[in-house]
Amino acid sequence: APGAQEFVPDTHDLKVLADAARGCRGCDLYQDADQTVFGAGSARARIMFVGEQPGDQEDRAGAPFVGPAGKLLDKALAAADIDRTTTYVTNAVKHFKFTRADGGKRRIHKKPGRTEIVACTPWLTAEIETVRPEVVVCLGATAAQTLLGTSFRLTEHRGEVFDLGTDGALSGVTAPTRVVATIHPSALLRGPSEDRAQGFDALVADLRVAAELI
Ligand code: URA
Ligand code: SF4
Repeated sequence: APGAQEFVPDTHDLKVLADAARGCRGCDLYQDADQTVFGAGSARARIMFVGEQPGDQEDRAGAPFVGPAGKLLDKALAAADIDRTTTYVTNAVKHFKFTRADGGKRRIHKKPGRTEIVACTPWLTAEIETVRPEVVVCLGATAAQTLLGTSFRLTEHRGEVFDLGTDGALSGVTAPTRVVATIHPSALLRGPSEDRAQGFDALVADLRVAAELI
């Protein structure tokens, strides 16, 4: 597959981008998912959140972060005094990747591979160039490595402020955007419940770092 670039229209109109993304065949993931889950939110957002890829509920709804991880993100945003309606929320990869379990009834999330991430980044680049946020918050290692390079280690550098122009790994981005990486809300949900309160507080602390940049 060719990657998304040939499907990305030359525009800074989010609606036109989202419509075009419905027809993307830049990698194989469009084949089994229900639909493209493009980013959503304010075109004038000063903060953009980037997750990994849509999950089961996002694939059904056609919107990012509406399932369990999205609910936890909403709680963390509220705790950090960030109004989600003023933000833009998207994912590194725009189609749900999964395997089936229980005789096909249950769809289990699979991590996107390097090929799919690289194939899909032209959409993320277009979103960043269109919204031109002051800060991008990477939720989890997949988003962080997409923006900051594959050698980026979340455990060592979460909550630090980077510059997308000088530290970034996305080509074609000219927006003067800073980047903060933090843990993915799903990682808190998967982890041991006794670690959850502390993990949540650390997530909120990183979100505050980002909010203070704007
Ligand atoms: N996890 C993500 O990374 N993105 C979503 O949209 C939902 C869950
Ligand atoms: Fe296109 Fe991205 Fe979907 Fe692959 S995952 S088909 S590159 S939108």
